[in-house]
Amino acid sequence: MADEIVLRVNGRDYSVLAEPDRMLLSVLRDELDLTGTKYGCGEGQCGACTVLIDDSPRKSCLTKISAAAGKAVTTIEGLALKENLHPLQTAFLEADAFQCGYCAPGMIMAGVGLLKKNSHPAREEIADFMQGNICRCGTYGRIVEAIQKAAAVLEEKKG
Ligand code: FES
Ligand code: FES
Repeated sequence: MADEIVLRVNGRDYSVLAEPDRMLLSVLRDELDLTGTKYGCGEGQCGACTVLIDDSPRKSCLTKISAAAGKAVTTIEGLALKENLHPLQTAFLEADAFQCGYCAPGMIMAGVGLLKKNSHPAREEIADFMQGNICRCGTYGRIVEAIQKAAAVLEEKKG
């Protein structure tokens, strides 16, 4: 039976009428029109659907909305502050860290989650943390470079 569930996404509350075990990815895309989060495999293997839940990267294709209720969900649409892209978005552009771009929203959300935990990740730590995100175009080297660039920018901002 459908329940009314309140989801807090990108700082805004949305009331959704849905089955509690419906997956967050389908609610984000089909009910809230937040299509930046991508559907890749639908079974937890590719990371295209990664969002932050309370600042930790989670695969939204495997996350029931009942588990996301009451928590802060951040999608790629919620990263920029007004006109200013998040430093990792800028670093992705500068490092040319994507080709087709399909993996990029999930990669960026996972990378932001990593930088929240570890402001200075080494190459190996980045590779290890990002293992759950697949890029079929093989831009891994540039993705690692972008995360390191963003780490340096965030460090500089902290002063
Ligand atoms: S779509 Fe969720 S991990 Fe692939
Ligand atoms: S840029 Fe194409 S899948 Fe990563």
